[in-house]
Amino acid sequence: MSKMSHEAADRIQHGADPARQHSGGPGRAVIWMAAITALGGLLFGYDTGVVSGALLFLKNDFPHITSLQKELVTSLLLVGAAIGAIGAARLADRIGRRPTILITAVVFVIGVLLAALTPTYGVLLAARVIIGLAVGSASMTVPMYIGEAAPPRFRGGLVSLNQLAITSGILVSYLVDYGLAGSQNWRLMFGLATIPAVLLFAGMLTQKESPAWLVAHDREDDARSVLSRLRPADVVDDELNSMKEGARKQDVKTRELISPRLRGVLILGVLLAVFQQVTGINTVIYYAPTLLASAGLGSSAALLANVVNGVVNVGMTIVAIWLLDRVGRRRLLISGTCGMAVALTVLALVFLIGGSTLTGAGAYVAIVALFFYTGSFAIGLGPVFWLLISEIYPVRVRASAMSVATFANWGANFVVTVSFLTLLSAITNAGTFFLFAFLTVVAVAYFWRRVPETKGRRLEDISADIEGRKVAGQAAR
Ligand code: BGC
Repeated sequence: MSKMSHEAADRIQHGADPARQHSGGPGRAVIWMAAITALGGLLFGYDTGVVSGALLFLKNDFPHITSLQKELVTSLLLVGAAIGAIGAARLADRIGRRPTILITAVVFVIGVLLAALTPTYGVLLAARVIIGLAVGSASMTVPMYIGEAAPPRFRGGLVSLNQLAITSGILVSYLVDYGLAGSQNWRLMFGLATIPAVLLFAGMLTQKESPAWLVAHDREDDARSVLSRLRPADVVDDELNSMKEGARKQDVKTRELISPRLRGVLILGVLLAVFQQVTGINTVIYYAPTLLASAGLGSSAALLANVVNGVVNVGMTIVAIWLLDRVGRRRLLISGTCGMAVALTVLALVFLIGGSTLTGAGAYVAIVALFFYTGSFAIGLGPVFWLLISEIYPVRVRASAMSVATFANWGANFVVTVSFLTLLSAITNAGTFFLFAFLTVVAVAYFWRRVPETKGRRLEDISADIEGRKVAGQAAR
């Protein structure tokens, strides 16, 4: 490997490019690539969020629909997503990241149109599974593809555009549900997702394959030409060399994922995934209006509080994007998760003191605690989970390892979502939130001990470090 000059290493590290010289940012081509790809995140958020409003009107077409059947419409998407994450890993490794995202966009269109035009309840269920496959695939491939193309110094913010798109998708779905509530048009609620799906497909046609994947598949010339679009000419060779070196030294096979060498980092991804879900975020995202209404708020006030909660989620994600490459992943993750623990404890205490139906001050404290909880998630565990799993694995097992973590995320989401209402009646609101608070404290302790700082570092260096070895590119600096 050619020794890299300090200057060139610094330029790679800081992602200097011609556009950046004017804007001080990562450059237009890279931002454009991340924004187009993040449409996959928008679909993830929209399709998971839209169902809460659509459920209210399914009875217009299916008059005998039961609560269990409604739950299936919601939760089968999560099952599809878990499967989609695994399937997408194989594709992303074999045919590449870009074609996988193109196929994902087509699956989105098919699933969404099927849901919107469904003649029967059974077809609606099938449609939700199909949408789930696409959501699961997008949830993994989008952060991976952006992470592999982004300059290290801006990677945190760029990959987290995906989380911004997820939260915006959730918010847009609430607004669409609200806007279409008068017409009760649940088919249009589902169907509108066709627009971002078609845009994702068209946008991805203008993009190129991930340079890291090309290098790992010995297509150096193609990788060079992609990098030339994303970086200034004078750093392309050095970055290419560093990718080649990383891929050569980390030539691990998928079956080695459970070997002692990689087991630790695989467990790290899985536990981050599980903690992201068992600390309760989706009980809030999916059930906040139900919870708020049953806690004593009128239903329109509950819906309004829900929209405000969505705005807090988006707003704090923007703050996170700004901070991730400045203060680092660890600090945001740990402080955000501490904030969640405090908010959950306050919620539990309010319910303990006020009983399950809150009035006056208790209701207000609960709402503020809810907003604080969501904001704390949005600044830490929300974006940082997806970011870290795109950073900590060697390139040749990145897709498989990310799919295992993503599978764990959707699996844990499913378990929490289907058991939440049962938990509330079995151990009361106070008991449920104390349980989430406890799990959140456990999460903080684990993050403190195990989560590495990845800010500003090259992907090859991060995974090599985690495996306890160094690659030559790093030694040269
Ligand atoms: C999580 C989703 C959640 C969303 C809320 C994502 O990072 O993976 O499960 O619904 O954040 O903002």
